[in-house]
Amino acid sequence: MATIAPERPQVRRSPTAFEALREHLKTHPDDRLVHTHKWDVSRSDIYFEDTWQPIFKEMREAGPLHYIPESPFGPYWAVVQHKAIQHIEALPEIFSSSWEHGGITILERLSDEELAARGAERRELPMFIAMDRPQHTGQRRTVAPKFTPSSITDMEAEIRQRTGELLDTLPRGEVFDWVDKVSIELTTGMLAILFGFPWEDRRLLTFWSDWSGDTELATVRELDEMRWGILQEMLAYFQSLWIERTHQDGGEDLISMMIHSDAMNQMSPQEFMGNLILLIVGGNDTTRNTMSGIIHAFDKFPDQRKLFEENPDLIPNAVQECIRYQTPLAHMRRTCTEDTEVFGQHVKKGDKVVLWYLSANRDEEVFDNADKLDITRENARRHIAFGYGIHRCVGARLAELQLRVLLEEMHKRRMRVHVAGDVERVRANFVHGFRKLEVEITSF
Ligand code: HEM
Repeated sequence: MATIAPERPQVRRSPTAFEALREHLKTHPDDRLVHTHKWDVSRSDIYFEDTWQPIFKEMREAGPLHYIPESPFGPYWAVVQHKAIQHIEALPEIFSSSWEHGGITILERLSDEELAARGAERRELPMFIAMDRPQHTGQRRTVAPKFTPSSITDMEAEIRQRTGELLDTLPRGEVFDWVDKVSIELTTGMLAILFGFPWEDRRLLTFWSDWSGDTELATVRELDEMRWGILQEMLAYFQSLWIERTHQDGGEDLISMMIHSDAMNQMSPQEFMGNLILLIVGGNDTTRNTMSGIIHAFDKFPDQRKLFEENPDLIPNAVQECIRYQTPLAHMRRTCTEDTEVFGQHVKKGDKVVLWYLSANRDEEVFDNADKLDITRENARRHIAFGYGIHRCVGARLAELQLRVLLEEMHKRRMRVHVAGDVERVRANFVHGFRKLEVEITSF
């Protein structure tokens, strides 16, 4: 069949929306979100300043979950213990992920009245992460074959080659930003391989995924406005790729695979687009921030870096431990669909329930000396950074592969990475990671 290559839309690439908002907040500090409750862990300054640990510790000691009656995102339950998060995620009928109930982050969905007041229409893209059974099951099935152990193994050689090539270009004896040069480059490269995305445009994937990152915003509405603008750009671009792939046979990339899969008839075009965007966002910030987190954690715990250098057999466990330690998504949210009791607390129908993975992965009832990185930790795999239950991360194996390959290729090159300059964290309560991490490379 002839290949049709429609013209791809031009996309505005510069992240001006974020910068404009940051500038706005500098001159209008009163527009920042106001948090009054001492346990309102939706405040983003504690993640930006890395001071969240004692707050969650105090909360865990006081119980598995707590009601926070007031926050800029409305009242919510903060679930802070490992066992309570697993319990809730094992009951997806009672604790819904559905966007119709409110979706998967602490952000509030705009009400019909609010939408009407601004003359706007409801504008949401359906994604299976924000669906309940049975829709969730069918749609997850359209992408799952790309993430089986054998499909992941097929991708290893290319990921290893690109990782090695990139590491070989890094400067020695010079300070540079690991986030930009390594973490972003490797994760967007991996997504470009997964989607068969035009290589020269791969940084668009980074830009698009960043819309979910920052919550240092004046109002929830502004965030919504900005997100929608960026989503429209992504949509136009992916629509052109979709048309292109529909007319091609035999492509092995994820887009072609979805288009030509039997389960595709379970999805509307809107859902198809929504799920592509889910994969971009899901696979981008998360793996990227673990790649930065590893370097930061090794620098903070040099005994562990030394262990890694002396014993590369520890790499697979080190990957698990680094994911636990970093926990690149701080939370996921559920909405309660019927009055119920959880560990003695009465949760009501309609209540917002926020699962703080960041806290569960430091739960001393499960992890000894939980604030320490320990790459020999026997139960590192028990972390719940990928969630638990029917929504457990579909890309977990791919993320683990990329992180293992990165550590193996660094080890092969006897590369030691030191933090040597600015460290700037993301100011957000959802994505937990680094905006900048200045480092210098030496050898071991
Ligand atoms: C779901 C974390 C990498 C795609 C999730 C969830 C978490 C998560 C917490 C929600 C689980 C729940 O609600 O129970 C992470 C972390 C990663 C990572 C920590 C890296 C270290 C990836 C990658 C991809 C991906 C590489 C794909 C390229 C998805 C998708 C879902 C998901 C599609 C929705 C699954 C569902 O609802 O059934 N991830 N993720 N993630 N992730 Fe990941």
